Amino acid sequence: MPLVNAKEMLTKAKEGHYAVGQFNINNLEWTKAILLTAQELGSPVILGVSEGAGKYMCGYKTVVGMVNGMLEELNITVPVALHLDHGSYEGAKACIEAGFSSIMFDGSHYPIDENVAKTKELVAICNEKGLSIEAEVGSIGGEEDGVVGMGECADPKECKMIADLGVTMLAAGIGNIHGKYPENWPGLSFETLDAVQQLTGKMPLVLHGGTGIPADMIKKAISLGVSKINVNTECQLAFAAATREYIEAGKDQQGKGFDPRKLLAPGFEAIKATVKEKMELFGSVGKA
Ligand code: 13P
Repeated sequence: MPLVNAKEMLTKAKEGHYAVGQFNINNLEWTKAILLTAQELGSPVILGVSEGAGKYMCGYKTVVGMVNGMLEELNITVPVALHLDHGSYEGAKACIEAGFSSIMFDGSHYPIDENVAKTKELVAICNEKGLSIEAEVGSIGGEEDGVVGMGECADPKECKMIADLGVTMLAAGIGNIHGKYPENWPGLSFETLDAVQQLTGKMPLVLHGGTGIPADMIKKAISLGVSKINVNTECQLAFAAATREYIEAGKDQQGKGFDPRKLLAPGFEAIKATVKEKMELFGSVGKA
């Protein structure tokens, strides 16, 4: 099945009280692992690409070519959206041109009026071209591609202003951060999430920083309107640990263990296992 935008899968998720995972991709192994797991579990999926990862993979056109090729050659029939993660205004336009099916415009660092103006312009372009668009209010903490956010809680009224522009889904800061959570992390602000959901109604809400959020908090967030959950670091940690184990066991020095197809296989399987665990937790299995 060709790429789809994320609107239908997220509308269904919000109505059905489950969430679709956005898993960030970094290379061929990542992309293949996520697509195969989604297909095996009959789950819709969103492939996230940060601007840094896009650059690393030789640019957005390369990413689009790789993903489209895999959808066809791996016979992927579940709905797959290819989504720019935390895009700048220029990055969003480049991805629209390159053939992404969904974009995120992260204008959370602009004053709200500028965030509104730029989001509005991109909503019009996405509507015309049939793409879905995610906007963000209240910066998500932690570090991503060198940008460090403060992990603030969004103002629900500002969320409503952005939601009313016609975005497909909305990321609101609720005390979540990218990367590992510190020991003294107070947890998600369900009070903020509830207030955002009350004002934005049917709008699918997005939870960034999915790595390391305890299962009970994930379930509660879904019950309060979260329909898309982003996971990146957890796949990276799983890949690194499995690769480390392979090399520390000296397997790369046995036979043809140095062949990248063997060397990268444990990490590939570890990504698959992580994605499976998340899809089961988010409730998206069998929802394709
Ligand atoms: P983590 O790296 O914490 O899983 O966050 C991913 C994310 O939110 C991507 O936008």
